[in-house]
Amino acid sequence: MLKIVTLVSGGGTNLQAIIDAIENGGIKNAQIVKVISNKADAYALERAAKHGIAAQAVVKKEFPDREAFNDALIAAVDEAAPDLVVLAGFLVVLPVKMIEKYRGRIINIHPSLIPSFCGNGFYGLKVHEAALARGVKVTGATVHFVDEGTDTGPIIAQKAVEVKEGDTPEILQRRVMEQAEWVILPGVINDIAHGRIKLSRSHPEERSDEGSYYGGEK
Ligand code: GAR
Repeated sequence: MLKIVTLVSGGGTNLQAIIDAIENGGIKNAQIVKVISNKADAYALERAAKHGIAAQAVVKKEFPDREAFNDALIAAVDEAAPDLVVLAGFLVVLPVKMIEKYRGRIINIHPSLIPSFCGNGFYGLKVHEAALARGVKVTGATVHFVDEGTDTGPIIAQKAVEVKEGDTPEILQRRVMEQAEWVILPGVINDIAHGRIKLSRSHPEERSDEGSYYGGEK
């Protein structure tokens, strides 16, 4: 059974999609053992509580400095001893120590087709504002492994979504969630739970320019 810790910052609709998929059999061999939020009032924490999942807030301003916050965040994750850490709308840069410790076991959902509209400053609604401002006709979502960069880790899955005439950032965000995020994130977790996806090389220095970076049957 794959033990998952989910890190969230907000509404938690992606968390809900994972919970629903576990409950309706779309994800098998996996359970969410804990949800951690950096915001005490994140609705995602309520979603967790409603489903009997342990929930914890680790809030930066309650710690004397960034290092103390980072250590508390890592301790909160470690305490659940997860096999997989899922960033589901977690808007905090992960401590390097955590990335090293959980390399190949942290995935993130991003609401665009990476490498478009990603990196520093591209999160949440801002991603869709940028896509509309650029006038792209297709956008989408990406699930990727997390490395030291922002949205730079190996890509696991992507799904394209049409941009329509008259879209607002909110309308586009909702379509990307419904048609892409809530589909590919549970799908990737199910594949990981069945051993079909894994990071084939464990350290960035071992990357080569040839061949695929992650392997598995997918
Ligand atoms: C989602 O659209 C997710 O892809 C995005 O934040 C939203 C969280 O919504 N994440 C990022 O932008 C990360 N760079 P949710 O809390 O309802 O799942």
